[in-house]
Amino acid sequence: MSMRTQYCGLTTEALLGQTVSLCGWVHRRRDHGGVIFIDLRDREGLVQIVCDPDQVDVFKNAEAVRNEFCLRITGLVRSRPEGTINNNLNSGKIEVLAQELEVLNPSVTPPFQLDDDNLSETTRLTHRVLDLRRPQMQNNLRLRYKVTMEVRKYLDGLGFIDIETPMLTKSTPEGARDYLVPSRVNSGQFFALPQSPQLFKQLLMVSNFDRYYQIVKCFRDEDLRADRQPEFTQIDCETSFLSEQEIRDMFEDMIRLVFKNALGVDLPNPFPVMEYAHAMALYGSDKPDMRVKMEFTDLTEVMKDVDFKVFSGAANMENGRVVGLRVPGGGAMPRSEIDAYTQFVAIYGARGLAYIKVNEKAQGRDGLQSPIVKNLHDAALTKILEQTGAQDGDLIFFGADKAKVVNDAIGALRVKIGHSEFGKKAGLFEDTWRPLWVIDFPMFEHDEESGRWNACHHPFTAPKDGHEDYLETDPGKCIAKAYDMVLNGWELGGGSIRIHKADVQSKVFRALNIGAEEAQLKFGFLLDALQYGAPPHGGLAFGLDRIVTMMAGAESIRDVIAFPKTQRAQCLLTQAPSEVDEKQLKELHIRLRLPEAKVVS
Ligand code: AMO
Ligand code: AMP
Repeated sequence: MSMRTQYCGLTTEALLGQTVSLCGWVHRRRDHGGVIFIDLRDREGLVQIVCDPDQVDVFKNAEAVRNEFCLRITGLVRSRPEGTINNNLNSGKIEVLAQELEVLNPSVTPPFQLDDDNLSETTRLTHRVLDLRRPQMQNNLRLRYKVTMEVRKYLDGLGFIDIETPMLTKSTPEGARDYLVPSRVNSGQFFALPQSPQLFKQLLMVSNFDRYYQIVKCFRDEDLRADRQPEFTQIDCETSFLSEQEIRDMFEDMIRLVFKNALGVDLPNPFPVMEYAHAMALYGSDKPDMRVKMEFTDLTEVMKDVDFKVFSGAANMENGRVVGLRVPGGGAMPRSEIDAYTQFVAIYGARGLAYIKVNEKAQGRDGLQSPIVKNLHDAALTKILEQTGAQDGDLIFFGADKAKVVNDAIGALRVKIGHSEFGKKAGLFEDTWRPLWVIDFPMFEHDEESGRWNACHHPFTAPKDGHEDYLETDPGKCIAKAYDMVLNGWELGGGSIRIHKADVQSKVFRALNIGAEEAQLKFGFLLDALQYGAPPHGGLAFGLDRIVTMMAGAESIRDVIAFPKTQRAQCLLTQAPSEVDEKQLKELHIRLRLPEAKVVS
């Protein structure tokens, strides 16, 4: 006889009058004097078990069980009495009258109630095994599986094949630090864990495997946030002989299908496409949250000759920028809220947050309430009102600084206000799905500290047609064939058309200040491969964890990863990373050089 005939959560009125065997965990045990009720939980949900004193053995066992005991129960499915039906449960119309109750394994007292919604993340991650028993986590991981299945079906249907690439490899520059693995056999040498399979997938294109994909772990040692983990999963794809447009269309369809089949959501068709420059100009971000109904007004020109030095200084500075953010209805914002926003933008390096409350436009400057209007001449005030489109009752915030500071600060402020209670009440936030493509990224961004150019995407991205010469003459002007898919303020994925000619690749390395020798050392295998008739190719990678997080409505990608790391890149469950034996270090020819404070005597 098998242990179980039925899942708890799938035991319904269809089985009335039948005897079933169920296995699961005690979710709750209620002792009603004469009768004991047990809510038994398995992967499909709960079912109510009734233990009657008539069944002496069953009752004795039931008295001893506690939460999270693992049980096997055989019993009769019967209707619940009138008035005790629970419509929230799949099994809510029935209960199972226990005839046998076997404790398969008792449980020590759990450190928390599984239905406690106010657990700290530290508690949850330390006791992840129990945390994962919670229905929300069960749903999240199932959704994740559903998403990967939909992806696999879609890509398989288009002839993509899954090819594994090495985990012990050479550094791939995706902009983060590498996780290194020492080689015992080759003393003093290290593998890097892949930041992505970027170079291998390109090599596979040269090897005639066009239409590759892999759902693959990537490793990046970088500052962690809600949407970043040191090891995360990409849906990594590459094709040959397709244009940027064809690639985008293909993967836009995939995401639409995944949302439809895994979540029942219809995303817009087609996704809007926005140039990077436009996104930065209007939203200060390359991943604008389009649910927020506010835009920047660029006032750099307007502010060039005003008395207020903060504005004119920024307007005349190289790489300076002045913007206004009109907040419709924001005139009602109390001073305390404005002060809180001033502190908020300081996180992004803003040195202040000027504002104008538009009380009554008809009264000219007297109708404006602001600490700065006295330093702005009439023509500037008129232009501010005109260009922002401000109406009576609105508030305009201003950012003036280097463009990067203004974009970061006012971009974040826009999202913050949009998501606030005020923003929601004022209709500045639309609670829906707003995907888009951001395209035409610059090839390079300038690193002020080192004075060097860095690749915006990665160094293997092709310049836009006609922009190749800028690689040598004016790298800042060079636009890339790169694209990101953005959803509600998150970058879900990104990719590019790649360089498939060795000479262009060398030019890009030169622009990045990577000399011929260094290029050969680090990427010689790529440069060599490009010489054997490498096909035009391109692709992209999606962050699987991010997609599932958004679909699950979770706060952090840690909620859709079975065993994630903390913000400090630690696993609280296994206590990794941890120290290793001296013997292991010796074999690896490694001597530790710990910071003073960490040296153990
Ligand atoms: P990129 O670096 O943009 O591109 O990464 C692709 C996608 O991976 C996700 N992602 C992350 N998710 C969680 N934690 C992280 N630390 C993390 N870093 C990135 C994001 C991102 O959009 N090889 C290229 C792709 C290509 O050109 O084909 C690459 O890795 O959702
Ligand atoms: P101050 O003249 O420094 O008292 O500033 C007058 C107003 O301008 C205050 O509301 C400041 O918050 C604001 N302010 C100062 N620096 C900036 C800046 N870089 N960008 C936007 N507003 C600023």
